[in-house]
Amino acid sequence: MHTRRVEWRAGNVDDEKVMFQKRLSACAAQIDACLNNMLTETPRDGEIARPPRLIAAMRHGVLNGGKRLRPFLLVETAAMFGMKRTAALNAAAALECLHCYSLIHDDLPVMDNDDLRRGQPTVHRAFDEATAILAGDSLLTFAFEILASSGTHSDPAIRIELVAMLARASGMAGMAGGQMLDLENEARTLQPEEASLVQQMKTAALIRFACEAGAVLAGASRRERAALAGYGESIGKAFQLADDILDITASAETLGKQTAKDSERGKATLVSIIGLKDAIAMKQDLLRDARAQLAQFGERAQLLHQAAYFIVHRDH
Ligand code: IPE
Ligand code: IPE
Ligand code: MG
Ligand code: MG
Ligand code: MG
Repeated sequence: MHTRRVEWRAGNVDDEKVMFQKRLSACAAQIDACLNNMLTETPRDGEIARPPRLIAAMRHGVLNGGKRLRPFLLVETAAMFGMKRTAALNAAAALECLHCYSLIHDDLPVMDNDDLRRGQPTVHRAFDEATAILAGDSLLTFAFEILASSGTHSDPAIRIELVAMLARASGMAGMAGGQMLDLENEARTLQPEEASLVQQMKTAALIRFACEAGAVLAGASRRERAALAGYGESIGKAFQLADDILDITASAETLGKQTAKDSERGKATLVSIIGLKDAIAMKQDLLRDARAQLAQFGERAQLLHQAAYFIVHRDH
């Protein structure tokens, strides 16, 4: 079995961090159980068949020890407005399916050509490229099937809103668009603003969705929703900045994926453009921006403050 890497670095553990880790692990376990239950070979109502090889590839790409940070943010944002955590799990599982699809396709030979993901062979390595593409396609569409299902929210208007939000966050002007720019940028010299736009689209859009969706699901006001979208955007950018920094500074054992990939592919990232020192300072600025958005929620936002801290100071 895989080990879930959510621990804080030894010797740097205070009460807040332990509490945060516990909450993240608890949410991850619930999401895993939910996804394990959804991704079965047995056809559901109205389905004809589920090809075992496709399901096996989807399970390989999903049930493999991801941090489950996006589902966690969605569930905890909804919980801040009084929603029961279990009631937000469906939407959170949909988001994780979409995220896992993005990783499966990101690892393909025609994209980043990676062999290792979450400490295991990537889906196209464990299966084959065509199966990996189809597993990704199926996870992408399954995400929307989950969001549209009545178990996600009793109000169909909310479900439609979530569907539209996720489509925007993951499509041409969001994650997929960001991936396009990222690939195009491999052969170019970039301005910092261009690298920042890539981060915003390929990564922050989905993290922003996590936080805004939690607010929408729980019936938050427009003002509250906007603040959480802003919070998600800032931590999303910080998250990709940390990913690019870790690509340079961390080991494959710690990350569960190959490192030094960006420089190997000649890919300019914000870190390679502005340098490690300024990138670390930028992460701190983003942390400050994110936390400022939480001011209106007072004590209720304690866990989201911790999440922002965790993302900025993460070591895997
Ligand atoms: C990796 O995301 C891809 C990026 C956007 C940097 P995560 O670091 O959240 O990966 P998992 O889900 O924990 O494997
Ligand atoms: C991936 O960025 C962002 C996605 C939308 C999947 P990276 O290509 O840097 O992510 P890793 O390092 O492979 O996880
Ligand atoms: Mg990539
Ligand atoms: Mg990659
Ligand atoms: Mg990376």
